[in-house]
Amino acid sequence: MADPVRTLGAAVKLISDSGSPSHDSSITHVTGKSEYVDDRPMLKGELHCGLVYSPHAHARVVRLDTAPALKIPGVICAVTASDVSHNVWGSIFQDQPIIAADETHYVGEVVAVVGAETKEALAKGIAAVIVVWEKLADIRTISAAIAAKSFIGSLRTISTGDAEGALATAPHSVNGTLEIGGADHFYLESQAVVVYPKEDGQLEVHSSTQHPTETQHVVAEACGLRFSDVVCIAKRLGGAFGGKESQASPIAAYAALIAKRSGRPARLVLSKDEDMIITGKRNPFQIEYRCGFDANGKILALDAMLHSDGGAYADLSTAIMERALLHCDNAYSIANMRVRGQVCRTHFHPHTAFRGFGGPKGVAMIESIIEDIARVVGRDALDVRMLNCYRQTQDITHYGQRVENNHLPALFASLEDRCEYRKRREEIRAWNAARTRDSNAPVRGLSLTAVKFGISFTTRFLNQGNALVNVHRDGTVQVSTGAVEMGQGVNSRIASIVAQQFGLPVSSVRMMPTSTEKNANTSPTAASTGTDINGAAAAKACESICSRLAALAIQLRSIPAELWATKTAGLGTMPEIIVGDGVGPNGTDDQRVEFAGGHVTVTVRSGAVFSIGFAELVRDAYRNRISLSDYGYYATPNLGFDKVTGQGRAFLYFTQGVAASEVELDRHTGEVKVRRVNILMDLGRPVNYALDMGQVMGGFVQGMGWLTTEHLVYDSNGKLISHSPSTYKIPNVQDTPRVFNADLIFNESNTEAVRGSKASGEPPLLLSISVWTAIRDAIMSARANSFAGKAQLVPLAIPATAERVLRGLSPESFAIWDAQESSGVY
Ligand code: MTE
Ligand code: HPA
Repeated sequence: MADPVRTLGAAVKLISDSGSPSHDSSITHVTGKSEYVDDRPMLKGELHCGLVYSPHAHARVVRLDTAPALKIPGVICAVTASDVSHNVWGSIFQDQPIIAADETHYVGEVVAVVGAETKEALAKGIAAVIVVWEKLADIRTISAAIAAKSFIGSLRTISTGDAEGALATAPHSVNGTLEIGGADHFYLESQAVVVYPKEDGQLEVHSSTQHPTETQHVVAEACGLRFSDVVCIAKRLGGAFGGKESQASPIAAYAALIAKRSGRPARLVLSKDEDMIITGKRNPFQIEYRCGFDANGKILALDAMLHSDGGAYADLSTAIMERALLHCDNAYSIANMRVRGQVCRTHFHPHTAFRGFGGPKGVAMIESIIEDIARVVGRDALDVRMLNCYRQTQDITHYGQRVENNHLPALFASLEDRCEYRKRREEIRAWNAARTRDSNAPVRGLSLTAVKFGISFTTRFLNQGNALVNVHRDGTVQVSTGAVEMGQGVNSRIASIVAQQFGLPVSSVRMMPTSTEKNANTSPTAASTGTDINGAAAAKACESICSRLAALAIQLRSIPAELWATKTAGLGTMPEIIVGDGVGPNGTDDQRVEFAGGHVTVTVRSGAVFSIGFAELVRDAYRNRISLSDYGYYATPNLGFDKVTGQGRAFLYFTQGVAASEVELDRHTGEVKVRRVNILMDLGRPVNYALDMGQVMGGFVQGMGWLTTEHLVYDSNGKLISHSPSTYKIPNVQDTPRVFNADLIFNESNTEAVRGSKASGEPPLLLSISVWTAIRDAIMSARANSFAGKAQLVPLAIPATAERVLRGLSPESFAIWDAQESSGVY
């Protein structure tokens, strides 16, 4: 009998690009004409702002005196904690001062902001501020935080079945500790803001923020203004990756305080070094796990304790931990499972959202456990994955959500064939066997991992969006939503959705800068939901407009053209057309209306057809006093996750995918080369294939950086010392896979999100975990000789830097360093 999974794999069809519109900023990006915050021309009297911040991980502010700075010519003002009206903020818990008063809790914590007319005066002013510090004891490791019970939020537990009982009876088990480092967002545009004081105390804030509404609120509260006195505008961001979800807001508040104090425009643009030193990173994690399984590798039980380093304040760390706990299953059905998570408070910059949020940490753990299981039971890791994979029959996750529209088995089976996994596995085995330690030849590894990323904010109220659509009388359209364009292409996708609704070319649709004046109470553009939420809201607004236009078109059909309002409304000789309810955007059962090709066409049941140009219909609508604008509101349906019980439907749907990565390790340097990557994803019916491909490949490479070369190094004061591209190694073009193929499967059956699409912003990053598991595979293969055939599991921390790879390959050559390290002598 045919293996059902293999049949599924063979049935997978791929999507091909049928000419996606390009990114709406592609021309202005490449011609250097795209406007970012700091491209705004300096206005007369505008001040440059600069920050005075703590050089210590934990310190008391014994004395703070800004008076000497004010004596410097060109320095106009300075603000400290006492100038802040409501000096506490926080996206989840309000626990963080905007400007610290008596004590600072991380290197980079701001104690004063200076405003000056020139950059030179600003530098002198900052240097002239007197701060006397008293260093205090600090906590700078997760272990130290656990020992001191220095925690943020409470312990979270999500469980199903009886993990402890099943572990006790499982025939085999593995346990271990996984150390996962943080990563810098390395957006190209640093945190930036310009604030203009307006009449009657109002402020207009141009911020590089993923969350204009929160920035509006934090600025207003810091300055003692009402929310209605502040407008926050975010035209576009030069990358954000989660780093501007919460942390752009205090930055905006600093400039706003200077603008308010001086009555002048104020600009704060961090340098790359300053930005990296001050702002939080991806949370480091330390995970302890125990996993029980049978002789085939079927997982019977998983128990994991996750600790994360939250840094000094809560920021988004508890939500990040929650997402980590919700992703510990990844693609695999585990009947008995208990995952617990606790965020630790340390003296580092408050760590924050980063593409994938907590997801990559949970997924890295389970994918590495599967590799371990495979070694213990002597099977290929892909077989163990397919054995444990969620099946078609709608399995239930450890948090009680059904895995609907599940394509994982087909994705595994299809990629296995497409990337010639079995053949290459054999070739790699032979390659490694023939090249023993004494040879100079590199060692190779291969791994195929999966992602099942839940799409929705796990905090229910964030799953809402709104959009304003204005149709103009030349037939062009302006759209404003709460979505922030940061390179991912959300604006282009929404423009495509709107254009399609009206039957217009995309070039007829202009996406307007995101502004809290037009779209209030918005959610951050995060959790990959930008298009889902804002695109759906825009589609709803379009539907309302289309319904009115359809009703008008139906009526115009029976009126001679010379009597239409475009000809007669100014004369007032014809009665006005009133469009009522009862006609949808597609017309009625008797008169079907279609918006396509720049025309609106009414087809009557008898077969008669009437067609009018979109712009002409719009002009007639205006003359008949029919509104050409609408506001759409969308709230994601069917969510039901209970944070207290840890059970329920946390996500509207899952974006799924698989990736096979082949790596080569240099035995002498530990350098990693990614020889080949094959990705296969289910992104439903993409709104824009090319943009999704950009997200898939870009997200994958960004994840590779976190997993391999991006190493955050701090000095003994807790200051980040790898704070520039020369010391912090993000992937460059030479690090990208030598062969890099990505494909999307044809999935017509997804109906959850707008136009049957699936979110692509974060999920592909998690597929890069296959690079890290492939490195581990290579290390363990290389070491297998020394274990005399017995499976030995070599831990590999993230990032798997060249040093760590080398240590993994030949720990004995590090013996001398290890001895010195433990004796404290270098
Ligand atoms: N792509 C680019 N070019 N720049 C970015 O800053 N951020 C990522 C992802 N892709 C980002 C990006 C993150 S962290 C998220 S959550 C999503 O885009 C947000 O946008 P979306 O919801 O529109 O997918
Ligand atoms: N990613 C995933 N989930 C989230 C995020 C994010 O950036 N923000 C809040 N929930």
